Amino acid sequence: MQIGLITEPYSQLRADALITYVFDAENKFDGVLGEINREMNGRLESLAASGELTGKSLETVLVHFPQGLAAQRLLLVGIGKPGKFSASDLRKIAGTALRYLKSRGAKKIVFLAREGGPEAAQAVVEGLIVADFESDKYRSDRKKQEVESVSLAGFHTGVGGDLISAVEQGRVIAESQNFARDLINEPSNRLTPRMLAARAEAMAKEAGLSVEILDERKIAELKMGALIGVAQGSVEPPRVMVLRYTPKNARPGGPVLGLVGKAVTFDTGGISLKPANNMEKMKDDMGGGATMLAAMRALAALKPSISVIAVIPSTENMPGGRAQKPGDVQVAMSGKTIEVINTDAEGRLILADGIFYARKLGCTHLIDAATLTGAIEVALANVNVGAFGTPREYLDQFLASAKAVGEKMWPMPIDDEYEEMIKSNIADIRNTGSGKGGGAITAAWFLKEFAEDTPWIHLDIAATCWIDEGRPWLAKGPTGVAIRSIIDFAMKM
Ligand code: BES
Ligand code: ZN
Ligand code: ZN
Repeated sequence: MQIGLITEPYSQLRADALITYVFDAENKFDGVLGEINREMNGRLESLAASGELTGKSLETVLVHFPQGLAAQRLLLVGIGKPGKFSASDLRKIAGTALRYLKSRGAKKIVFLAREGGPEAAQAVVEGLIVADFESDKYRSDRKKQEVESVSLAGFHTGVGGDLISAVEQGRVIAESQNFARDLINEPSNRLTPRMLAARAEAMAKEAGLSVEILDERKIAELKMGALIGVAQGSVEPPRVMVLRYTPKNARPGGPVLGLVGKAVTFDTGGISLKPANNMEKMKDDMGGGATMLAAMRALAALKPSISVIAVIPSTENMPGGRAQKPGDVQVAMSGKTIEVINTDAEGRLILADGIFYARKLGCTHLIDAATLTGAIEVALANVNVGAFGTPREYLDQFLASAKAVGEKMWPMPIDDEYEEMIKSNIADIRNTGSGKGGGAITAAWFLKEFAEDTPWIHLDIAATCWIDEGRPWLAKGPTGVAIRSIIDFAMKM
């Protein structure tokens, strides 16, 4: 899909459709909408008077052969109340419009902004590209409908090349998000840890990042006992992907951001086997790893001023003759001993070694992302990402980035009382909480045992990484959540 800025008068552009938006209860159309209404002899006013056009958030009203426009159709999308409207709303309405028109066979589209500069243009581009993604790669009957081009009109030019680079940035970010979604979609027979590592390597080379893949021998040499404990039940060997971005004028002693992602390519639960119902969903258990790969892909192009290192441990979690068993004690790379109460709490085990290794590589700040617990769904449903972190100011900075890019995240508690719940009788810690409840929090505490005092953020994306129902602006399946926030945070750090 081509996306470009245009300066010609929007009314003269031949296209299958022109998209613009309407505010809630807007009855005196102004600006470009006033012009369109006049050209159409007040038809928008009559649509509003009849109650068909209300401007309620995400409402779609399609007008065929609009008078005064060279476009074949005018699509009006509701954007809600004018006072509350932000770049994130534009992202959603652009996505909603794209999906609406794509399903109706539109090829050439114009998006007409009524206001807004580079930030708005970037959000629109992100909304369009993210909305264009479908999960039907393996369906032979998939629709070949493609939107060929979207022309952006009506944005205020920023200073210099601002608007052009905003469009470019939006494209890089959204395409990275789709890169992750494609990986998350892959079934486990088509994405083993080795195959994921190969895809990471190919992406890194293309993006200009340095990359190192640790194989099972190197992993053993490094004594990543927690990762090995999980991996030993599978015939597929584990991998750890290490990707590095170094800025041109890297400041010695400057901050190094570590991005650690859980990449369990399939989670059967191991000997603590999961029920068969919905088990197929556990192919998305590498979502945290895909998130970090996507963030690195984008950062390679956006070039933040700090160094960033991604560490992505990857394995299957399988039952088998050599699998670890409940009660087993593993020695993590850090030297901490772990009593494995439940082999299904494997994500925290592999992240323990991932987080510790990232610190050994010199990371001064950490973010991890993981489809870690079912408990986060109990707490927050599929609306908010559960965001943990210490110190609190570091977490708050991250939450500000999430807000800026329109991703819903909610701060979760990490009081010392919860640490008591992961004390073990025979080892340093146990991999599940001993009390009732708080499963997402005890899981976070387990990770903190390895992050220690390094500023650290943990994103539990178990409930938000995948949606079973599509949204008007987003296909069902993998969402690519958290990637935009991580990119924004790294750029501002
Ligand atoms: N990968 C799962 C978490 C998960 C659950 C992701 C549902 C997506 C949807 C994780 O490895 C897991 O199994 N966690 C257990 C931990 C428990 C055994 C302490 C869980 O949440 O049930
Ligand atoms: Zn599990
Ligand atoms: Zn898991």
